[in-house]
Amino acid sequence: MTTSTNEASLFVIFGGTGDLSRRKLLPALGNLDTEGHLNPRMRVLAVGRRPKTDEEFRQLAKDALGQAGLPSERIEATARRLHYQVLDPGKPEDYRTLGRRLYDLGREHDIPANYAFYLSLPPRAFPLAVAGLGEAGLNQPEGWSRLVVEKPFGKDLASAEKLNALVHQHFQEDQIYRIDHYLGKETVQNLLVFRLANAFIESSWNRERIDAVQITVGENLGVGTRAEYYDHSGALRDMVQNHLTQLLTLVAMEVPSSFSARAIRHEKIKVLQSIAPIEPANVVRGQYTAGELNGQAVRGYLQEDGVAKGSQTETFVAIKLFVDSWRWQGVPFYLRTGKCLPAKTTQIAVRFREAPVGYFKQMGCNQDTADVLTIALQPDEGFIFHLDIKMPGAPLRLERIPLRFNYNEHFEGSLPDGYQTLLLDVLNGDQTLFVHSDEVEGSWRVYAPLLDNPPKIYNYAAGTWGPPEADSLAIPERDLWQKETV
Ligand code: BG6
Repeated sequence: MTTSTNEASLFVIFGGTGDLSRRKLLPALGNLDTEGHLNPRMRVLAVGRRPKTDEEFRQLAKDALGQAGLPSERIEATARRLHYQVLDPGKPEDYRTLGRRLYDLGREHDIPANYAFYLSLPPRAFPLAVAGLGEAGLNQPEGWSRLVVEKPFGKDLASAEKLNALVHQHFQEDQIYRIDHYLGKETVQNLLVFRLANAFIESSWNRERIDAVQITVGENLGVGTRAEYYDHSGALRDMVQNHLTQLLTLVAMEVPSSFSARAIRHEKIKVLQSIAPIEPANVVRGQYTAGELNGQAVRGYLQEDGVAKGSQTETFVAIKLFVDSWRWQGVPFYLRTGKCLPAKTTQIAVRFREAPVGYFKQMGCNQDTADVLTIALQPDEGFIFHLDIKMPGAPLRLERIPLRFNYNEHFEGSLPDGYQTLLLDVLNGDQTLFVHSDEVEGSWRVYAPLLDNPPKIYNYAAGTWGPPEADSLAIPERDLWQKETV
């Protein structure tokens, strides 16, 4: 969550010509460069299996930067920072060659031995790269060495523990940056500011004042070309264990002792440890069938290319859980996510308790239900607070009005992409928005019983808000499943 970096370093992207690099990482670095956040001597070394010259890679990168909308003069400037190195992840000697290349680039551009290694690799290549870097001594250069890791962090508790143990053989936890791209979203960071900079919010942020919390991540797309991966994963692994749980921990954590990575992550880990075992009856899994989405007919999940016949993988999940802490005892937290829902929306709805005495109801007014604070992350970022006010004139009547704040309307320019924020934090050595190994394991531990014994799966038509059974989890008469966006 820092702003700019003065240290010169070498940023190494494994999988440098891949999709993530072209769509997200290179544009994020290009934008950081354009905004003046990068040290002038900083260089990027893309690593890939196929031989390429620096010039060939620069061409590929320029196309990617152009597609991301960077101005052409800035593209040229960023491209000058880029280099390329061929490497086969399975060949130990290639890591020694990589080490020599880093040394040479360092000498040429007067960069100390500060290395960030971004592993944008398929899971099977990941252990090879970690071991290769470690055995070549690139985990302990003279300056610093940081390892950036993309999800999935395992597919269950056992595999996550194994992965963490492997990484810890070569890198200390304070060198490891596990990316959950949701933590790079501006409103997620704002959630911390919102809670901790506004005393009236934080003093209401507990079971005395809050009735329920609902976290929704809806997607209005199917699994598309990722069906093969997705069919082995499902919504619980793909979205809940990581993104939704990260949001949950930020909402539910105690006030940290300082605004530091260590203190914040410590509090998030405590939330995970406090989650009560989830009742299977409080989980509804769903799978989309053919339906209509964005005005078009779409096929069902079982008809997608790459999905196993009769697959029981969930594309939707709704969960009601409890955080058994002093602050949250008895307050239900609802998590809901799914593919092929009517809208792309990510939001956290916090429902406050109703006024203890319903004066206005007693007077025949339509005093509405409780106040709801909706913090929206997508598609627009901001929040709405719904409150009752008096309508002008007589007789006394109440109306529910929204207090609305929208980032894009208030601040000029577009919000930085999450990767931009996260890459800058890597360069600055700020781990606040990265996932600690204890968080990864703690989160898998919460969902392990559901993964071992998946509850029943229900169908829902594409373009609807999931199986109707999910509605009975919430409290329908209170309209808890919010559908509104900011
Ligand atoms: C990814 C999941 O982590 O997040 C995808 O693997 C999902 O299945 C994506 O579509 C959603 O991210 P965002 O930022 O578009 O909400």
